[in-house]
Amino acid sequence: MKAKITLIPGDGIGPEIVREAKRVLESIAKKYDHEFIFTDIDMGGCSIDKYGVPLTDEAIEIAKNSDAILLGAVGGNVGNSKWYNVAPNLRPEAGLLKIRKELGLFANLRPALLYKELAGACPLKTEISEAGFDMVIVRELTGGLYFGERYTKEVDGIKTAVDTLVYNENEIRRVAKVAFDIATKRRKKVISVDKANVLDSSRLWRSVVEEVAKDYPDVTLEHMLVDNAAMQLVMNPGQFDVMLTENMFGDILSDEASMITGSIGMLPSASLNESKLGLYEPSHGSAPDIAGKNIANPLATILSASMLLKYSLGLDKETSDIENAVEKVLKNNFRTADIYTQGMQKLSTSQMGDKVLEYLK
Ligand code: NAD
Ligand code: IPM
Ligand code: MN
Repeated sequence: MKAKITLIPGDGIGPEIVREAKRVLESIAKKYDHEFIFTDIDMGGCSIDKYGVPLTDEAIEIAKNSDAILLGAVGGNVGNSKWYNVAPNLRPEAGLLKIRKELGLFANLRPALLYKELAGACPLKTEISEAGFDMVIVRELTGGLYFGERYTKEVDGIKTAVDTLVYNENEIRRVAKVAFDIATKRRKKVISVDKANVLDSSRLWRSVVEEVAKDYPDVTLEHMLVDNAAMQLVMNPGQFDVMLTENMFGDILSDEASMITGSIGMLPSASLNESKLGLYEPSHGSAPDIAGKNIANPLATILSASMLLKYSLGLDKETSDIENAVEKVLKNNFRTADIYTQGMQKLSTSQMGDKVLEYLK
């Protein structure tokens, strides 16, 4: 197969982890006789430095004209980077929000599973980590607080900031369908997370999700309030199969879910629309604290590349090859610093890439 893949290395550790994922894709192409044509574009702080904006129209055109997009991460040290005190649409993160919106990537899939080998890196009690868990968070990605009106102004001489949270029933319905479709191929359970005891948007969310559930008689639906969900995730993560939630709640809960898999460096993601063109990225950020040190964990990005092969290119065998290689690396006790436990062999970012390549062959 011939496919055009847009690479967005971005900022911080982005270029280091995308480099490893690209090597993995190249190795897959060689093994299966595919032709992957890679084009790099700038997004985030690096684009601001070059062009004055976090994502140029030319870059977005290249992304739109490809078959899939792989992103590292964007952004600097929030609060004290040169990109902080500027208008919202000129910040690094605005590039990411723009590409999500322009491509209509409303469904963000974040699979969180605990590899048996990483039970020791899971911060939960032994009986919980040994029981294991395997869930997919389906996060709505183009609505809610991220895309509502926002401004800061003086009201009666007092500085006041406003962010608005808007959802319409169509936005809720389409992402709920994605969650139920995924559940039918898994353990057939959706837990929808909201704050229906307070928010109107959550009450609408709940009623639309219930409507959608009627078309999926084999799938059980449960509702859970977001504060309870945060607690349940560390008390009994095994109860979650598909977790469906809105944009901001999903952002927060997926970081929590990532940590119980051992590290945020393990959690991949796919951002999908109704067509095949998706954007794939680790759930973590640009990690400015460890950038340039060759110690970041590239596995979340490598696993995001494997999701790319599955969802955008339909290459299931190639996808499981990468997943199996990652599993073998862990089974053979190779770890980056973030998932390191005593007795394991500590690897750098590039050495971890080497190991995945070795087990791919
Ligand atoms: P972060 O995820 O970048 O880092 C949080 C912590 O996790 C840090 O200690 C970091 O060193 C560690 N970490 C993250 N990824 C790792 C990896 N692969 N291996 C080992 N350790 C890893 O979150 P943050 O510090 O809150 O944000 C930093 C910047 O990233 C901000 O500018 C933020 O806006 C941006 N961000 C971007 C994305 C994205 O591009 N998709 C996602 C989240 C945050
Ligand atoms: C993520 C990130 C982004 C988000 C930021 C960088 C805008 O945290 O992909 O999880 O909140 O969606
Ligand atoms: Mn996040």
